Amino acid sequence: MPGTTFSQRIVAWQRTHGRHDLPWQNTRDAYRIWLSEIMLQQTQVTTVLPYYARFLERFPTVAALADAAEDDVMSLWAGLGYYSRARNLHAAAKQVVALHNGQFPADVALLAELPGVGRSTAAAIAAFAYDIIAPILDGNVKRVLARHAGVEGFPGAGPVEKMLWRHAEERLPAKPDNMVAYTQGLMDLGATICSRTDPTCLLCPVAADCSARISGRTADIPAARPSKVLPHRTQRYLLARHNDQVLLVKRPSPGIWGGLWCLPELGDEEDAKAVARLRFGVSRAGTVRELPGIEHTFTHFRLSLRVIELPVTKIEASTNSPGTLWLAGDDLRNAALPKPISRLLIDF
Ligand code: ADE
Repeated sequence: MPGTTFSQRIVAWQRTHGRHDLPWQNTRDAYRIWLSEIMLQQTQVTTVLPYYARFLERFPTVAALADAAEDDVMSLWAGLGYYSRARNLHAAAKQVVALHNGQFPADVALLAELPGVGRSTAAAIAAFAYDIIAPILDGNVKRVLARHAGVEGFPGAGPVEKMLWRHAEERLPAKPDNMVAYTQGLMDLGATICSRTDPTCLLCPVAADCSARISGRTADIPAARPSKVLPHRTQRYLLARHNDQVLLVKRPSPGIWGGLWCLPELGDEEDAKAVARLRFGVSRAGTVRELPGIEHTFTHFRLSLRVIELPVTKIEASTNSPGTLWLAGDDLRNAALPKPISRLLIDF
């Protein structure tokens, strides 16, 4: 379509070929939009859908979320990963109530001051809720723009990212009433047509002037993250079982799995039975057994979990200290557990 701008082609394409039925579309409620954008930051749409519905059912407004107990927020988030998002979410809800009268501000800079809301998320909320003209640049959009503008290098690298922000600004629509379709269109294009390994350039509305397509470099742009070997840690955990109850401790926050309920950690040389007796009031127990190990990868390191199972036959009644719980059944299933622990205890 010669003569039409990048944004006009994205908008027209979104209206006919983009996604229109996601639960956070067709609303102007900034709370619902913000919640979806935070959930979608590191997580795919299909994973987010059930979490989003449960969360809104429980916390229909930002005020309800601000008033919630942290444990309730964490348990609705459990399984989505990147738990600092949930802690930031709760803190941001409190800020919106305390500083902005319960209304998300119609201003990108003010939105970006909320915990967990970066420049791109602020712009997405501003566009979807308030038609504000501001550029987004999430992972998918980086790929679309890097290809279209022919920007080499890893998009996460500072100078490359800076250049991509400039391209994002240059391509913005002139009119605010196109911002919803434009912003969603860029996301949709990145999620569907302009995929990482196998882009469908034949169906792309901006293929005609896409630098990477024209020069046959879609396989090379964007460049992959420079590979680095992640550091590795091993940690032993105590799985104490008493009838159908499991012993859990609350993780300190901040920190990995901060605020979630986890198996107690054991030092490398620590005796599981002694720890159970001294720290958790277990007065009689059977023989320990080591279960098959579990591997888990975080952003910055790999963790091997070694699980030491201890069948407990007697606990002293007075030992339920704060931050310690014996849980079974639905209480266990509904607890805010880290993914690998939930797999171990519930999903099998
Ligand atoms: N990823 C981030 N924001 C999104 C949105 N609004 N729709 C679909 N995927 C997204």
